[in-house]
Formats: sequence, C-alpha cells, structure tokens
Amino acid sequence: MAGGSDKIDYVFKVVLIGDSAVGKSQILARFARNEFSLDSKATIGVEFQTRTLVIQHKSVKAQIWDTAGQERYRAVTSAYYRGAVGALMVYDITRRQSFDHISRWLEELRSHADRNIVIMLVGNKTDLEDQRAVTTEDAREFAQKENLFFLETSALEATNVENAFQTVLTEIF
Ligand code: GTP
Ligand code: MG
Repeated sequence: MAGGSDKIDYVFKVVLIGDSAVGKSQILARFARNEFSLDSKATIGVEFQTRTLVIQHKSVKAQIWDTAGQERYRAVTSAYYRGAVGALMVYDITRRQSFDHISRWLEELRSHADRNIVIMLVGNKTDLEDQRAVTTEDAREFAQKENLFFLETSALEATNVENAFQTVLTEIF
C-alpha cells in the first residue's frame, strides 16, 4: 500500500452467487487482479480473493468469496454466507434462465445471510449486446421491487466491475 502502511481498518466479506457460467469467477478475477480469461473453468467448492481499497480514508480489505453455480460443486451453504456483509447476485444478460433463477438465489440469500446484507443485482456480459435476452428495464424493475442495487457489467471489457464492488463496499461502510 501507499506509504508502506499495511494497517487494515475493516475486513468485509462479500459473496458471489448465481447460476453456473454467468461469470462470477471472471468478475472476481477482474476485480482482484485485473485479469480475464475466456476459457475459465467451472468453480469447484469455494475460493476467495482479497483486495484492499481505501474508502472514505479508511483501509478496507474486501474478502470476496466465490463458489460454484452448479449444485453438485457448491460449498456448504451456511458456511458460505456466514459473516457476509455484501453479496453480488449475478446473471448473464444473454441467458434468460440465469435471470429467472435470481429469485431462487435471493431466497437462499435471505434465508442464510445476515438481515442487513447489502445486495447488488449484476447483469454480466454486456459486451454481448447482440445476444441480449434480458432487458435492462426488466432487471431494474425486479431490483426496485426487491430493494436491491443494480448494475450491468462486462468482466471481459472491465465495465462497471469496479463500480459494482465499490458501491457495495461503500454502502456496507
Ligand atoms: P461457475 O464457477 O460454474 O459457477 O461459473 P462462473 O459464474 O464462475 O462463470 P465463469 O466466470 O467461469 O465464466 C463462464 C464463462 O463466461 C467463461 O467462458 C468466461 O470467459 C465467460 N465470461 C465471463 N464474463 C464474461 C463477460 O463479461 N463477457 C463475455 N463475453 N464472457 C464472459
Ligand atoms: Mg466460477
């Protein structure tokens, strides 16, 4: 860190959820290491990465947890959500089904996570606009109804990834 100081004021756990192949791991790779891979493998179990940022003059270590969208590879649900103060709930704008499943992810989140968890709905892969199957309006309406933050991202083009995490972390703060 700048100035050689490694003092951490806060550690915030944020979880990524959503169907398989929506881009959770690549969103995390973009945020944590500014990397992206087109031949990303399905996540098995649980992984996490951290990045330290400065928010309102405090040093905040974001600990981002990533698990499999595929049921058979998923981490133990209760352990995954334990202590999480933020969540990015991701769907793929080119796959309608991944958006239709969001209500289930939300249900799981609401039954396992802290009542005050900050939730961001994320429509990923905006670089594939010509294959879009979920309108921005539909998603925005859902987010409003459920009281969620909402953004569309592209992990590939690095669009709004920073913004999504910053918004959640600042709101937690
Ligand atoms: P699971 O680990 O199985 O739950 O999947 P995941 O949600 O972690 O998906 P992952 O990040 O592995 O990405 C799945 C595929 O989508 C990979 O081929 C990625 O390269 C691709 N992908 C991820 N984000 C984007 C994006 O913003 N744009 C495009 N075009 N492809 C993306
Ligand atoms: Mg993954």
